[in-house]
Amino acid sequence: MSETNETLSNLLHEERRFEPPADLAASANLTAEAYERAAADPEAFWAEQAERLDWSQKWDRVLDWDDPPFAKWFSGGTLNASYNCVDRHVEAGRGDKVAIHFVGEPEGDARSITYAELKDEVSRAANALTSLGVAAGDRVAIYMPMIPEAVVAMLACARIGAPHTVVFGGFSSDALASRLTDCEAKVVVTADGGYRRGAASALKPAVDEARTKTDVVEKVLVVRRTGQDLGADGWDDAVDVWWHDVVDTASAEHQPEAFDAEHPLYVMYTSGTTGKPKGILHTTGGYLTGAAYTHWAVFDLKPETDVYWCTADIGWVTGHSYIVYGPLANGATQVLYEGTPDSPERGRWWKIIADYGVTIFYTAPTAIRSFMKQGREIPDRHDMSSLRILGSVGEPINPEAYVWYRSVIGGDRTPVVDTWWQTETGSIMISPLPGVTHGKPGSAMTPIPGVSAEVVDEAGEAVPNGSGGYLVLTRPWPAMLRTIWGDDERFKDTYWSRFESLGYYFAGDGAKKDEDGDIWVLGRVDDVMNVSGHRLSTTEIESALVSHPKVAEAAVVGASDEDTGQAPCAFVILRDEAGDGGKDIVEELRNHVRKEIGPIAKPRQVMVVAELPKTRSGKIMRRLLRDVAENREIGDVTTLADSSVMDLISQGISSGK
Ligand code: WTA
Repeated sequence: MSETNETLSNLLHEERRFEPPADLAASANLTAEAYERAAADPEAFWAEQAERLDWSQKWDRVLDWDDPPFAKWFSGGTLNASYNCVDRHVEAGRGDKVAIHFVGEPEGDARSITYAELKDEVSRAANALTSLGVAAGDRVAIYMPMIPEAVVAMLACARIGAPHTVVFGGFSSDALASRLTDCEAKVVVTADGGYRRGAASALKPAVDEARTKTDVVEKVLVVRRTGQDLGADGWDDAVDVWWHDVVDTASAEHQPEAFDAEHPLYVMYTSGTTGKPKGILHTTGGYLTGAAYTHWAVFDLKPETDVYWCTADIGWVTGHSYIVYGPLANGATQVLYEGTPDSPERGRWWKIIADYGVTIFYTAPTAIRSFMKQGREIPDRHDMSSLRILGSVGEPINPEAYVWYRSVIGGDRTPVVDTWWQTETGSIMISPLPGVTHGKPGSAMTPIPGVSAEVVDEAGEAVPNGSGGYLVLTRPWPAMLRTIWGDDERFKDTYWSRFESLGYYFAGDGAKKDEDGDIWVLGRVDDVMNVSGHRLSTTEIESALVSHPKVAEAAVVGASDEDTGQAPCAFVILRDEAGDGGKDIVEELRNHVRKEIGPIAKPRQVMVVAELPKTRSGKIMRRLLRDVAENREIGDVTTLADSSVMDLISQGISSGK
C-alpha cells in the first residue's frame, strides 16, 4: 500500500476546517443527539425513519437477520413505492407543488411538472405497461435520456410491482443486451434519442441491435424525444410501440397495489471484479426508508422552500436514490437536466442554478475538477446566492476541489457534504451532517446516525486513529442490497466472506481514520476502477480487448488521472498473425472497447507490449503496470517469474513500440 500511504500523508496535512453556519445549525433537521439515540437502539431508530413512509400494513418485525447475510427489513409490512413518491403528496393537498423542473438541453425547452401531473402520468404509464403484458414480478428495462418520462417509467414499474433495471444511456448495445439477458427483461422503455452536446443522439438503434443478441424482449416502448429518423429498418410493428400512442391515451386512474416490504423494487447492474456485471437487488420498504431518511438528513431538506438538484444520470444508483426515490418520497421540488454541463456554453449549470433558485446541489468531484480548470470567471457570472448546501459523491474529493467548490460555487457560505456510499448500500452511509459536523476538506467524516462503519485490519480488528485499513459496515441497514440477481453465492462471496465470522459487510474500499477518528475514503482495494465517478472493472475491459481478433492477451489498470480521477490504461499482447497490428492499432483497440462497453470505458492509453509481468503462479502484477501508466519508477519486481519483463515493457514504451 505504498501509494496509499503517500496519498495519506498528503491528506493528513489538510488542516482547514469549516464550521456549520449558525442559522443552519439552529434549524437543522437532525442534531447531534441523533447519533447517540441511533447507537443506543438502531432498530428503534430505523423504525422511526420508516414512519416517514405511508404503509398499507405496518411491519411486525423491524429487522430479520436470522439467516445472515440475507436480511429482511420491516417484515410483514406492505406499501407501494410509487404511492409514497406521488399520490400521498397529492392527497395531502400538495398536488400543485412542482415535483420536477425539467430543463432540456436545447435552450428554452423546459417545463415544470406538478405532483398532481406526475401522478396522472405515472398512472397512465402503469396502465400502459399492464396493457403491454407486464405483471408484478416481471422485469422492465429502461434505457433513456434524462427526460421526465424516465422518472415516470421507473415509478410506473414500481407502481405495478415490476422491478426495473435502468441501463445507462451511454452503454453500448452489447452492455445493454447482457443486462437484458441476465434479468430477462420482458419490456424495454426507451426513446428515439436525447440531446447531448447540442445534437440529437440516437438510442433506439442500440435497443434494436441488442434485440438481435437476446430473445427475452417482447415489447419496446418508445418515447419520441428528438423526432429523429429511425431509418428504414428502425421500427418493428410486432414489437415497437410509441409512448404517445399507448401512454397518452391510457386512463389516469390507477389503483396502486400494496406490496410486501421485501418485494423487489429494482436491479441495478454494477461492475465487479470479474467480467460479468452484478445485478444489485434492492427491495421496497427498507430501500425507500433509507433513501428518504438520508435525503432529508444529509441535505437538511426543507421540502416547502428548497429547490434541489442532483446532476447524476438516472442510469446510476445516485439517480435512483437521489433523483427519484429519496426526493420524491420527501415531496421535494427538484431540477432535472437532460444534457451536458457545457451545452450550449460552459456556464449552463450555473445559469440553471440562478434561473431556478437552486438551494441544494449534488454533483461529482470529476465535474468540479473540470470546472476548476475552466476558471472561476464562468461561475462568477451567475448569481448563485440561493445555494445553501453542496454535496459530492462518487469518488474521493481532493481537498483543493472541495475548497474551490465551497468557495467559488458556494460563496464560502455553504457546507459541503462529502457522501460515501455504493450501489450496494442503496443510500448514503458516511457523510457530515450539514448542521452538525464541521467540514474537513477530503474527509467523508462519520457514519450517519443509524449506520455503523469501521476501518479494520486484515483480521477485522478496528485500526487505531491515524491508521488505514479496509472499510466495513458492521451492522445491517435498511437500504442494503439483498442479493446479486440470480447469484446468492456471488453475493456471499463478494461482500460477506472476507470477515465472515464477524458478520461485516466488506465494501471493497480502503480507508483511513485520522487522529480525530474521522474517515477518509481512499478508493478501491480490488480490481475495480473509478472513472469520473463510474465504476468499471478491469476484467470487463480486458475481456472486451481480448474479444478483438488481433489481441492475444490484455491487462488493464486504473491509472490516476487529473480529470477523471482514474483512467483505464491497457497493455496488450498481439497475436502472432496480427504482426505489429498496423499503424492504427491503438485507435482501433480504443474504439473496440468503446463499442463493446461504452465511451466511458475507452482506454486513455493502449500500449502494445511483448510480455506482461506475471508472478510465478501466473497472476498479472497490475501494481507494476500502474507504475508504468503513471510514469513512476517501477516498484519491487522480485516476485515476477521473469524480472526482465518490466525492462522490456519500459523500453518498448519509451521507444514508441
Ligand atoms: C467510490 C456511487 C470516496 C467508492 C454512489 C465506492 C467514494 C464506489 C465516494 C461506489 C466518496 C463513492 N468518497 N469514494 N464520497 N462515493 N465512492 O456503486 O470507491 O457507483 O466503493 O456508487 O465509489 O460506486 P457506485
